[in-house]
Amino acid sequence: MIGSANTGDDPADGWFPESVAAGYDSPGGANVPEVVTSVVDVLEDLADGPVLEFAVGTGRIAAPLAGRGVPVSGIELSRAMAARLASKPGGAAVKVTIGDMTTTRLAGLFSLVYLVYNTISNVTTQDGQVDVFRNAAAHLRPGGLFLVEVGLPDLRRLPPGQDIVPFAMTPGAADGGYVGFDQYDIVTQRFTSNHVTVSPDGVGRFRRIPFRYAWPAEMDLMARIAGLKLKHRWADWDRSEFTAESTKHVSIWEAGLST
Ligand SMILES: C[S@@+](CC[C@H](N)C(=O)[O-])C[C@H]1O[C@@H](n2cnc3c(N)ncnc32)[C@H](O)[C@@H]1O
Repeated sequence: MIGSANTGDDPADGWFPESVAAGYDSPGGANVPEVVTSVVDVLEDLADGPVLEFAVGTGRIAAPLAGRGVPVSGIELSRAMAARLASKPGGAAVKVTIGDMTTTRLAGLFSLVYLVYNTISNVTTQDGQVDVFRNAAAHLRPGGLFLVEVGLPDLRRLPPGQDIVPFAMTPGAADGGYVGFDQYDIVTQRFTSNHVTVSPDGVGRFRRIPFRYAWPAEMDLMARIAGLKLKHRWADWDRSEFTAESTKHVSIWEAGLST
């Protein structure tokens, strides 16, 4: 049976309510020390004064970065996610504002605004993504940097007539099971990530999250609309070269040196 439990989640927390926030920091995936350290190393290197994380979440990155002495602020939509931050090492130093990264404007200017872990794709319209770039630019001092980390859509795995790309399947044995697949609409550039989790007693949960993909070239145009210019495009946090085989990019745009 696939059903949704009555979790008491607050709809204002969007796709990251209490029931998701509670498990978000479980070890694994992007939440392992090697991955976090590789991200924080780069951000610390780029920071030249206060920094701002858009969609700061539970502080997976912001807390350790603040722990290194970098002044970090964050904007986050979900109170449930943000509530985890203060109890982490370094987290109490992060200044979090509950708001929407497309519109929320903090006082002051920053040396770096960053938006990691595919979260630009959580904004599901082109106008909204342009607003993210514009809002990032509005927070940057001259010469400041806007960094985005985002995966590339797996469209090369779509034969004609097919719109689904599976990305995970674990057998539903005694421990339960998990099936994950993306479903693309290549006309609107929207896609959904679909997660079916089955507990050992056979009860299932189906979670479907909407996204919008944009190619790096489209993001360069969004940056240009916002008055930013591409400075670096890497394939990953190791600063390796971005190529036709890259599955993600870490891109950095720079604010003009004259205002
Ligand atoms: C995948 S998590 C990433 C959290 C954190 N940046 C990290 O790297 O672990 C996505 C986060 O983006 C937040 N989010 C989504 N859309 C947002 C928006 N428009 N403004 C602010 N936060 C948003 C969600 O609530 C969630 O906490």
